[in-house]
Amino acid sequence: MNLTDDQKKFLNGDFGEGAKLAMKVQVAIGESFGAERMVPITRAHVALSNQDADLWLAEKMVNLGAKCRIAPTVNPGFCREYFKAKNLVSQEDYDMMERTHNAYKKLGAQLTYNCTPYIDTNVPNFGEIIAFSESSATPYANSVWGARTNREGANSALFASITGYVPEYGLLLDENRKGNILVDVQADMKNDYCYHMLGMCGKKIGHGVPVFTGLPKYISPEALRNLGAQLNTSGAYDMYHILGFTPEAPDLETAFDKKEPLRKVTITNEDFEEVLKDISLEGNREIDFVMFGCPHFTLNECRHIAMAIEGKKLKKEMWILTSSHVKSIAVRMGLDEIIENAGGHIVPDTCPDQPCWHFLKGKVGLTESPKCAYYPQRRGINFVIRDLDTCINAAITGEVK
Ligand code: F3S
Repeated sequence: MNLTDDQKKFLNGDFGEGAKLAMKVQVAIGESFGAERMVPITRAHVALSNQDADLWLAEKMVNLGAKCRIAPTVNPGFCREYFKAKNLVSQEDYDMMERTHNAYKKLGAQLTYNCTPYIDTNVPNFGEIIAFSESSATPYANSVWGARTNREGANSALFASITGYVPEYGLLLDENRKGNILVDVQADMKNDYCYHMLGMCGKKIGHGVPVFTGLPKYISPEALRNLGAQLNTSGAYDMYHILGFTPEAPDLETAFDKKEPLRKVTITNEDFEEVLKDISLEGNREIDFVMFGCPHFTLNECRHIAMAIEGKKLKKEMWILTSSHVKSIAVRMGLDEIIENAGGHIVPDTCPDQPCWHFLKGKVGLTESPKCAYYPQRRGINFVIRDLDTCINAAITGEVK
């Protein structure tokens, strides 16, 4: 690979052992993908997970003296103060989250603990070269904003943050950003939940860069977030296009680079029904709790829930996961108070795939997100999946209808 003087200095150890290791790994990744050079990045997002391997690497890099050149935003773990105050987390789990926090703090990360940075805290411009990990973040940055990132792992995004460079391969190059699967959506896309279901059709869509047609003219940021999150729950997608909507797909010719698609797929309401049967517990039952916010909910979604439950008493506890900045605005707007009075909680900085939810083991939850249902299964928590308004009503009545 052709390296600049600055990049060679990393390998010589001029910036310390941590920076040297980060560059060494990145050069090896680049060589394995045939990259010819490293290019500078302007943003990064690290899918911090607060799990053993994540903590091991972060502390190793701290011990080697690494510091981030580009301060990345980071994914949620769990909110230590919130769960400690409610006595819901063991000392051991609390300590691990604190070590994770301290390690990323020393590395110089932006401690945002939010998995939807592309909506309001770390929003790239068209054509910007960035290093984003996190399943919904990579496709959103590439597809919706037209920024350029490969589907980084938490570790490679951290290394990119430290060096300020990424190897130039994959989606950084024009030729790999073109669509090759035509997906004609004939399903009824009546709300944001339907984009969760569309994303869960990854098995049928198959490997490649899908170009969706047949979608409504306006698609909300929440729907686009849902689509990317679930495409990477049901499959592995770095990028998609929506014809006439996303910036690199103004027309079919441009989206497919004047080539014929490799495959044509049609998605119908029946596909959504099949998917739901596969991933959700059966409905028409009593549930124990309701959880939203995987990926993290926006202020609009918090407001929608607050308006729906204002003045009511929930029969089932409800947790809404979001960023600390959305929570702080929800507090200012009085939305948090409305939700608390009804028996719900806006929880900042937290992901469902964390040990702080141990107390829900063996219980049945209700959510609108297949990803929320997917990860906690390994912790013995299972979910029914329904659209947002059905979930809100079930929290009020105690039953899924
Ligand atoms: Fe975000 Fe955790 Fe879900 S990182 S998408 S809340 S699994």
